[in-house]
Amino acid sequence: MALEIIPGIYSVGVVDWNVRSFHGHTYSTNRGSTYNSYLIVDEKIALVDTVLGSFAGELIENIRKIIAPEKIDYIIANHVETDHSGALPEIMKLCPKAKVVGTQKCKEGLFKHYYGNWDFQVVHSQDKISLGKRSLTFIEAPMIHWPDSMFTYCLEEQLLMPNDAFGQHYATSQRFDDETDQCALMDEAAKYYANILWPLGPVILKKIEEIQKLNIPIKIIAPSHGVIWRKDPERIINSYLYWAKNSVKEKAVIVYETMWGATEKMARKIAEGLIQSGIEVKLFDVATSDRTEMTKEMLDSKGFLFGSSTHDNDMLPMMAGFLEFVKGLRPKNRAIGVFGSYGWAGGAVKEIENLFKEIDINTALESLSVKYIPDQDELNKCFEYGINFANIVRNK
Ligand code: FEO
Repeated sequence: MALEIIPGIYSVGVVDWNVRSFHGHTYSTNRGSTYNSYLIVDEKIALVDTVLGSFAGELIENIRKIIAPEKIDYIIANHVETDHSGALPEIMKLCPKAKVVGTQKCKEGLFKHYYGNWDFQVVHSQDKISLGKRSLTFIEAPMIHWPDSMFTYCLEEQLLMPNDAFGQHYATSQRFDDETDQCALMDEAAKYYANILWPLGPVILKKIEEIQKLNIPIKIIAPSHGVIWRKDPERIINSYLYWAKNSVKEKAVIVYETMWGATEKMARKIAEGLIQSGIEVKLFDVATSDRTEMTKEMLDSKGFLFGSSTHDNDMLPMMAGFLEFVKGLRPKNRAIGVFGSYGWAGGAVKEIENLFKEIDINTALESLSVKYIPDQDELNKCFEYGINFANIVRNK
């Protein structure tokens, strides 16, 4: 549907209620998502971003409720990724004279995706396009989260359209932050940051600082996924600052994979030690848990504990897959603990330690290994390990 979010500016994107995985299958979108597109009707008409290709028809229908698509003068392409550019070829068929506006990398990326022979205007930070009463200023934002990424700002409305930044994969019938469930909103915003933006913290801090120095008022942040921040845009900016600075709390996430239950027994006993010490704990069996959710829980946790049974002198395969993902997040300022059971030669614990050494992280405590099933003494050691790890989390 088309909704006027500010007089003369319309949300014309689509809600994808049923998408359940994103970025291939790296991200589970249990609450669906939206592909937001904004139509600015002034003396000139600009469309900011499009939607996933399969929703091109719905986008065009939404635009038609406001204006004839043929009247569009500019299509601002903040980002190449197909969830925002997929409908561009269909739109361009209706307004072949419209100018596509984006960064040089965007131009290269869109050409490589669609080979469209479109009139393209390359813009740089602080370049401006006048639409009449309103203007659009561009802020290049490379690696938030692709090299081509860009933010678009409308000074007259104090409106920032930062594409993926500040988004949420969150399908709702409401379009604004103040209309929706606050817990679900912040849960999805954290999940989005943890799974898409976590390794880019230093770039994000620099970009926010750069924007703050521009001293531009921001009344509304309209991202390309999820709801629009109009009640308190500072809330999401401050959340990004918190996450990007690797701010953490006294919380530990335990993730394990177990073959016959011995490593699970260890995990539960370690959790008991942590809980008795007053540390918040989240415990996940990697084989049955949602990776996107586990990553979100790790975002504000000071301690990570990973456990695996040994198989073929290595960790179990689902743990190996999860830890490769964690390695890519390049976590900083965290304490890491490792544990696991084995039958004869062992190997899982060493392999997990080695994986973290590759990113210059050493375990905070000597790792804990148990042969076959932990007996009472060994369970007591697991409990003690939890208490010792709690002290490290508290004092780190
Ligand atoms: Fe929502 Fe980077 O695409």
